[in-house]
Amino acid sequence: MIDDCVVNIEDIKLNNDNFNNNIENNNIDYNDNNNNKKVIVFTGSTDGIGRSTLDVLVKNNSKELKFILPVRNIEKGERVKDELKLLNQDADITIMKMDLGSFESIRGFVREFTQLEIPLDILVNNAGLMATSYSTTIDGYETTFAVNHLGPFLLTNLLIDKLKQSVHGGNIVLVTSVMHEREKLDFDQLNVKKSNYSYVSAYGKSKLCNVLFARELQKRLDEENPHNRVKVNYLHPGSAKTSLSRDYGFFVKNIILPIILFFISNPLNEMANSLAALSLNKNNEKGKYFFINKEKSPSGFASDFNNSKRLYDESLKLVQL
Ligand SMILES: NC(=O)c1ccc[n+]([C@@H]2O[C@H](COP(=O)([O-])OP(=O)(O)OC[C@H]3O[C@@H](n4cnc5c(N)ncnc54)[C@H](OP(=O)(O)O)[C@@H]3O)[C@@H](O)[C@H]2O)c1
Repeated sequence: MIDDCVVNIEDIKLNNDNFNNNIENNNIDYNDNNNNKKVIVFTGSTDGIGRSTLDVLVKNNSKELKFILPVRNIEKGERVKDELKLLNQDADITIMKMDLGSFESIRGFVREFTQLEIPLDILVNNAGLMATSYSTTIDGYETTFAVNHLGPFLLTNLLIDKLKQSVHGGNIVLVTSVMHEREKLDFDQLNVKKSNYSYVSAYGKSKLCNVLFARELQKRLDEENPHNRVKVNYLHPGSAKTSLSRDYGFFVKNIILPIILFFISNPLNEMANSLAALSLNKNNEKGKYFFINKEKSPSGFASDFNNSKRLYDESLKLVQL
């Protein structure tokens, strides 16, 4: 009851602030009517698992959620918004620009988001890729490592204070993969060189980074504040053919992948339902690894807090925090 009252007072303030912002700022799509809505920032909403998860959340939870969808391609984002609105015309959806392959773009998104002066309750780090050929981002890091780990690491750290302030207790999700289980990290070569590049390994390592980051973040939040209410969970969403495999060669895409997926693929709606459930986190799960919707243990390397501390400290330097 007391919690509910606090939420209401916060939301009244939020509504007033939004109203003022609306008058001043014409180019961002506000919805004044977000009483009691949790604000969710969800990356990778424009395709694959994220796109399907948005369908679930928009259909079932629009009354309780205000959606902020950072996307790298605004036109595609606006198309997705139009499609989502067909599912629920009352859905409160704002598309904003963010490319996880650029620190400046991430910082730009956080600046714009902060200017909205709305709370942040849920952050879902779902966006990801598998760069089949070696390339580097504008910041000079190998693309898969940068987009899948350094980007979400920077984004989460820049938003963490807002998540701590959430009256609901912030909720963070990192979408990882079982492919983290076969990898280890060489901390002297996190930013792998072209001569050592294997896209499968780079992807698995980046997903291992997601696990280590999630575990270390939860640990630091709990140590810093015994009353910490920010929850960090990570999940393998299941396996499905999505745009993740868009750059595979002909043979892998048309022969190998279909064979693998014949044995291990999951229905996309099941994957979307489990990511939607963890995004809402109604059971207040904390510091856990889920394989779709079943709790699981991460790999031995990923469970070692010496490794997570090392990665966290190195990542702070790499993103210049
Ligand atoms: N598919 C699987 O079997 C599987 C298995 C385990 C884990 N996962 C994980 O699930 C998550 C979603 O993957 P998916 O299969 O749904 O892949 P997908 O269909 O390729 O979708 C990836 C999403 O991430 C976005 N994205 C990619 N690079 C970005 C960047 N630089 N900045 C901002 N957004 C970017 C994409 O935007 P665009 O629309 O602009 O391309 C898209 O919305 C990933 O983290 C992946 O590692 C997938």
